[in-house]
Amino acid sequence: MGYAIALRCRKCGREYPLEPRNLCDFCLSPLEVNYDYKSMAKAVSREKFAGGPQSMWRYRELLPVDSEVVDIGTGFTPLVKADNLGQKLGLERLYIKNDCLNPTYSFKDRVVSVAITKAREFGFDTVACASTGNLAASVAAHAAKVNMNAYVFVPSNMEPGKLAGTAIYNPVLVTVDGSYDDVNRLCGKLAARYNWGFININLRPYYAEGSKTLAYEVAEQSGWCAPDCVVVPAASGLLFTRIWKGLDELAMLGLIEPVNTHMYLSQAAGCSPIVNAFAAGSIHVHPVEPDTIAKSIAIGNPADGYYALRVARQSGGGASAVTDEEAVAGMRLLAETEGIFAEAAGGVVIAALKKLVASGLIKKSELTVAFITGAGSKTQEILSDIVQTSTIKPTPESFEEVFGVSV
Ligand SMILES: Cc1ncc(COP(=O)(O)O)c(C=O)c1O
Ligand SMILES: [Zn+2]
Repeated sequence: MGYAIALRCRKCGREYPLEPRNLCDFCLSPLEVNYDYKSMAKAVSREKFAGGPQSMWRYRELLPVDSEVVDIGTGFTPLVKADNLGQKLGLERLYIKNDCLNPTYSFKDRVVSVAITKAREFGFDTVACASTGNLAASVAAHAAKVNMNAYVFVPSNMEPGKLAGTAIYNPVLVTVDGSYDDVNRLCGKLAARYNWGFININLRPYYAEGSKTLAYEVAEQSGWCAPDCVVVPAASGLLFTRIWKGLDELAMLGLIEPVNTHMYLSQAAGCSPIVNAFAAGSIHVHPVEPDTIAKSIAIGNPADGYYALRVARQSGGGASAVTDEEAVAGMRLLAETEGIFAEAAGGVVIAALKKLVASGLIKKSELTVAFITGAGSKTQEILSDIVQTSTIKPTPESFEEVFGVSV
């Protein structure tokens, strides 16, 4: 059995049993999993983690599961020292957490692995989700692995590579004529009608916990210490808050020193409600109508925006938005310097990092981790203009004629 003891309201603190439920009945605020940290502390150690599986499940004791887990090989992705990129940006200790290397090519496998394990524990035979793209593929893949029915709902303008990358697992793939926020609202209504495990609605408190494993891995891979600065892409803002929670838990368990990490979140300027609120010094996140190529992080009304803002402020971090052009330049810079092909959300992170260093907020010697959370190969259409080839005849002469190389 695990160490989760209850769901607790983030606002009023009311507790609920560990069941499929997302919101507090009294104040409608989100619920989060609470643990018996005293008992957990006795069961964990750096040595024990080191001997665990080479996956996110080496941190099983820190996750809210009580049964055999559904694992398609997620996590323990590389933390790469990015010297070339660091040199370009003016950072001496820059690392990339390359979460493109998960089974369905994004960090969403982490959250889904936990949520689908809970769906099976709760006895659901059908799972569903509202997705901007990456979650859809991950839910469909995990459902296929455990023979569950899957309904995935996505905006109809989702990138073709992401549609195919989901359809291959044979879920019921529903394209909705509307934005992600419309899809999410629809799924909220469907969740009230159908007895399904909605991965990011009634299973959301469990789903959220999967993101903590990114923080655990980074700390372990850094020799059990927390970074000085992190840059994270934000859509609903949940990932950002859980990286913080993960670091905080490690400190609470005595596995790392007290955390002094500056948490920076990044969004595309065409959908930056959290960054707007940060810049305005406000605690209110006003919804926006998304208009960006970074579709995976295009959530106009971010459910966890308020909490993400709090983390950015409390940690002495910040929030930065970049244009689509800057995001594409960021994708190219990451690929050309470090050999990592990220999707636009990764380009947003790199472009934001560049700005944060240029403005002096992130300093040269600070241990900095940029979280690259999804792979570029699924959304190649946004790069169509960078393809430049010269077609030659299959002869050495033709090659030399065009490229001017000769022996
Ligand atoms: C590639 C990628 N990065 C980051 C995020 C942000 O996730 P969150 O909604 O937890 O902020 C998403 C969300 O879909 C995503 O697809
Ligand atoms: Zn409450």
